[in-house]
Amino acid sequence: MPLDIGIDLGTATVQVYAGGEILLSEPSVIAFNKKTGKVLAVGKEAQTMIGRTPSHIVAVRPLEKGVIAEIRSCQKMIKYFVEKTCKNRILRPRVAICIPSEVTEVERQAVVEAADAAGAKSVITIEEPMAAAIGAGLDVLKPGGNMILDIGGGTADIAVITLGGIAESVSLKIAGNTFDETIVKAVKTNYNLIIGTRMAERVKISLRDAIENNEMIEVKGKNAMTGMPEMIKLDPKEVRGYFDENFKIIVDAIIATLDKTPPELVADISEQGIYLTGGGAMVYGLADLIEERTKIKTVYPDDPEKCVVVGAGKAFEYLGELQDGLISERKM
Ligand SMILES: Nc1ncnc2c1ncn2[C@@H]1O[C@H](COP(=O)(O)OP(=O)(O)OP(=O)(O)O)[C@@H](O)[C@H]1O
Ligand SMILES: [Mg+2]
Repeated sequence: MPLDIGIDLGTATVQVYAGGEILLSEPSVIAFNKKTGKVLAVGKEAQTMIGRTPSHIVAVRPLEKGVIAEIRSCQKMIKYFVEKTCKNRILRPRVAICIPSEVTEVERQAVVEAADAAGAKSVITIEEPMAAAIGAGLDVLKPGGNMILDIGGGTADIAVITLGGIAESVSLKIAGNTFDETIVKAVKTNYNLIIGTRMAERVKISLRDAIENNEMIEVKGKNAMTGMPEMIKLDPKEVRGYFDENFKIIVDAIIATLDKTPPELVADISEQGIYLTGGGAMVYGLADLIEERTKIKTVYPDDPEKCVVVGAGKAFEYLGELQDGLISERKM
């Protein structure tokens, strides 16, 4: 049996799934030597190099806001992961790659070529919401409506899936990174404190615990006037309020999507619930707001941030069953 590999090429995280488990989950960063093209580091190690490299080395994020910003480095990253996963294997793997929903056909082909160059036996690409639905354990082939809201670092994708196809979908450029930037801006405006996006991300992720335990959240940055280091304590309820505008855009888009969806499918969705996947969908307060405004329950599958890669890893089981355009194969 050839090995089937699923790759989630995310804005924030690249994940690899094979043989029933997640083999790798690392930040989407790659560092390589500009002169020789040799890959020096990928993932966490490469992330620490951003902004700190000598002139002949570059450390980049190949994907941004859900699009491929740097195709060459994206290709290098794919090749690196496929080769790493298949080290010491004789049979060539089948590779399924989940690509951001906004990529062009040229970029999609470049992704396929990279996996091909790494020795894949065959390569398919799958759209993110479809992979998320499969990974969340939904029966995507049945004639019933499933709604997925997948929020990553760069995009929020809303899709209604039925009979192996996408009935309605929309992709917004508001996601985890936007929430971080929103915190940075609000803290600057309200407290004259400049904080980095990684500090803001920590605030965002600690929000649920802080609210449940009634604790303040410490943030460190520098004073915008004096430039001196400063620490303040934020009220988590106030931080939740920072997201009002971001959340409104997402929930409005869900409502607009439901509005365009045929009534039978809406009835199915209201019974099943709206499935939330992707790391960004775990942001505190969003699920409650969706339920309040749509009157439809929300469901978090187990490990929401893993659904897309698990779905990509299972994509080969659906060959020929998903509608055209969602999945395409190249046999080598
Ligand atoms: N517990 C949490 N609460 C809120 N946000 C979280 C949590 N855990 C992770 N995140 C956020 O999830 C985002 C990353 O999600 P994910 O790994 O699904 O993105 P991605 O698939 O790489 O991006 P995209 O799908 O947009 O290309 C980051 O913004 C991260 O801060
Ligand atoms: Mg994603």
